[in-house]
Amino acid sequence: MNHIGTNSIETIRLILRRFRPEDAYDMYNNWASDKDTLKFVSWGPHTDINVTYRRILSWVESYKQPNIYYWAIYLKSDKQVIGSISVEISNDRDESCEIGYCIGRKYWGREIVLEALRAVMHYLFYEVGYRKIIAKYDVLNKASGRVMQKAGMEYERTLYNLGHRRDGSIYDADVYVKYLDEIKP
Ligand SMILES: CC(C)(COP(=O)(O)OP(=O)(O)OC[C@H]1O[C@@H](n2cnc3c(N)ncnc32)[C@H](O)[C@@H]1OP(=O)(O)O)[C@@H](O)C(=O)NCCC(=O)NCCS
Repeated sequence: MNHIGTNSIETIRLILRRFRPEDAYDMYNNWASDKDTLKFVSWGPHTDINVTYRRILSWVESYKQPNIYYWAIYLKSDKQVIGSISVEISNDRDESCEIGYCIGRKYWGREIVLEALRAVMHYLFYEVGYRKIIAKYDVLNKASGRVMQKAGMEYERTLYNLGHRRDGSIYDADVYVKYLDEIKP
């Protein structure tokens, strides 16, 4: 593994870059305060922009570690940070990691997360050296599953009774994986 930390990645519509304290306004307004956006996400919604600000400060602090991969998704056309994409779990021994992502509702349906996910997978495989990338989604969150499929990930298994949704119901999650091409089993 060649841990290089969160460096900027530019795609056609996006700049994936480190969070900055001044992103609190965009983050709070675009996704962190919106319960519908966060329906299938384990945290939030934030009731106060100061919660968002403190969250960002902790990410900024975490960038000192070379094995932290946590990008803000900046949409060039709107000059705003509209979401995040990150490595949530890293397992160096298996050379595998799990990715999570989220963008504000206003920006759904434009394949923005797909564009970000493709770029991040390329970075994690070819710059960092992971050999397996995992993502999982609540089975009701079909749009997230579609993003994984369109990014070339393949269904691996379903995890039953994985946790509780915010409304108290229990959810199952589908796990998708992508292997570095040359080691695909
Ligand atoms: C889920 C999410 C990442 C999707 O991102 P996006 O940029 O809107 O994705 P896309 O533009 O590629 O569109 C999603 C796909 O799902 C499909 N889709 C949307 N809602 C759907 C539904 N209810 N059932 C089935 N398919 C659905 C769309 O038709 C599209 O597929 P297509 O291109 O084959 O037509 C985004 O909605 C999001 O950030 N949600 C909030 C956070 C979240 O849930 N994160 C994932 C946690 S695992």
